[in-house]
Amino acid sequence: MLIKSVFKAIAPAVKMQPKVVFVLGGPGAGKGTQCQRIVETFGYVHLSAGDLLREERSQPNSQFGELIDNYIKEGKIVPVEITCSLLDNAMKASGKDKFLIDGFPRNQNNLEGWNSTVAKRVQLQFILFFDCPLEICLERCLQRGAGGSGRSDDNPDSLKKRFNTYLNETRPIIEYYEKSDLVKRIDATRPVEEVFEDVKSIFQGLNCIGGGDQ
Ligand code: ADP
Ligand code: C5P
Ligand code: MG
Repeated sequence: MLIKSVFKAIAPAVKMQPKVVFVLGGPGAGKGTQCQRIVETFGYVHLSAGDLLREERSQPNSQFGELIDNYIKEGKIVPVEITCSLLDNAMKASGKDKFLIDGFPRNQNNLEGWNSTVAKRVQLQFILFFDCPLEICLERCLQRGAGGSGRSDDNPDSLKKRFNTYLNETRPIIEYYEKSDLVKRIDATRPVEEVFEDVKSIFQGLNCIGGGDQ
């Protein structure tokens, strides 16, 4: 009886928490490409940590522009205070309640910064992990660069550093979440539409078709 009434009291608060899916995978694994499709089909808001950092870097008055520029070229992970506040601001500004947070948390510092700030205000649904060998990632990033991405880090020198960061810092974060059974792994080596078929079954499994409530 008591448990029932306590549950009744806290249920609305739990339900109102924004939902978050972390999207991880190597550079060029196809995170952004698949997120765009998830947005169209399931109504999530896509927030790419990399995109937010590039946007911040391009602000004429940004106090972090130069720092971000250096970190990106070196394939290093920007201190979490900067990235987390960009994500938090973007979540609040959207006025929405379902987010794909792409390219985050990318290292232990990201994870700890998130856990001590935003984590308590959101419901982490799962980690969508686009698993792709680095040889394929390399090919895709070089093609993206050749196709005019304009990114300062789609070149062999930066990519080598980004892959090292991915292996040494990001993979341990994925392994950490695997222990809590939160990781949904997708084989990202296949063509975009085939990859999306697997992505769709995961989101349909949550019963969130068309972006409705879950
Ligand atoms: P990420 O956000 O993980 O760095 P992107 O979504 O930007 O990756 O994709 C990197 C490049 O690879 C882009 O040029 C994109 O068009 C291409 N790409 C994405 N997914 C696939 C795929 N499944 N097969 C082939 N090329 C892909
Ligand atoms: O995800 P994306 O490939 O766009 O990230 C580009 C770069 O942005 C990373 O290599 C890194 O330098 C920076 N970044 C970061 N922290 C994150 C995400 C991206 O420092 N959480
Ligand atoms: Mg991306």
